[in-house]
Amino acid sequence: MLVTQVMKEFADPNRAAYWCYKWRERGARIGFVPTMGALHDGHLALVRRARAENDYAVVSIFVNPLQFGDARDYDLYPRDFEADAVLLSMEGAALAFTGTLAQFFPDSGGNLAKVALRDPGSAAEGLEGELRPGHFEGVATIVARLFELVRPTRAYFGEKDFQQTRVVLELAKELGGPPITVCPTLRDADGLALSSRNARLSVEQRREALALSRALYAARAAWQRGERDPAALCAVLARVAGDSALRLEYAEVRDPEVWTAERPRGPLARAQALLAAFCGDVRLIDTLRLDAPSE
Ligand code: PAF
Repeated sequence: MLVTQVMKEFADPNRAAYWCYKWRERGARIGFVPTMGALHDGHLALVRRARAENDYAVVSIFVNPLQFGDARDYDLYPRDFEADAVLLSMEGAALAFTGTLAQFFPDSGGNLAKVALRDPGSAAEGLEGELRPGHFEGVATIVARLFELVRPTRAYFGEKDFQQTRVVLELAKELGGPPITVCPTLRDADGLALSSRNARLSVEQRREALALSRALYAARAAWQRGERDPAALCAVLARVAGDSALRLEYAEVRDPEVWTAERPRGPLARAQALLAAFCGDVRLIDTLRLDAPSE
């Protein structure tokens, strides 16, 4: 089915929806990667996977104001649609689209307060959901809308936003699809997880940010030595991440298969370590499955 063509770029989600509809009608499989732009290799790996497993990879680029509690964070979020489009085209994406809030949610007339928000479900409880009130309501609302427009065969999300992947899995279950593929976190050679926010780090801050992956690797080493107590694993995370200039927001473990707002009581059979910290005014998150083979 794959037809080689120049990547389409639409600044209107309705045109994207029509393009997807047309190809779906012809039997094409559409792999969908929702993004907020400022693309890095982590996003491009999702696009490669979407392309490999479907006829077309479709990518949305929309810095969704509904999921930012902090207006300054929203304003500072890096944006470069043209550069993103070049990368996506080189990666073989078939379509990249964006739009305005008013285009995505016509009933709102572009007024944030008038967008009807979705309940993001129980996976939104705790950690990010608690520290960033309204964040997952915004994520669930835009992701549901994007699914409605694209109606993908399958959608692809990065594991780095681990709690987000739990929210999206719950959402997709509630909506009756699409199937979701969660792809591994990509890291620079020194361990720093790829993130669009890394672009805002100074050289010194980037060096400090390595305390996150150091802490995750230390927790995994503790797991490999037989540590199964969640409190002890969290203590390792907090000690190593805390031994830096980072301002730690949380150092937690969860059962990766059963999301709970609170830390589970041990001993654990599986463990996902989760960290959030400010590096200067840049908020970073990172995660690692402790019981999985090394990345
Ligand atoms: O992970 C992101 O980039 C965003 O949260 C998403 C899923 C594109 C929704 O805006």
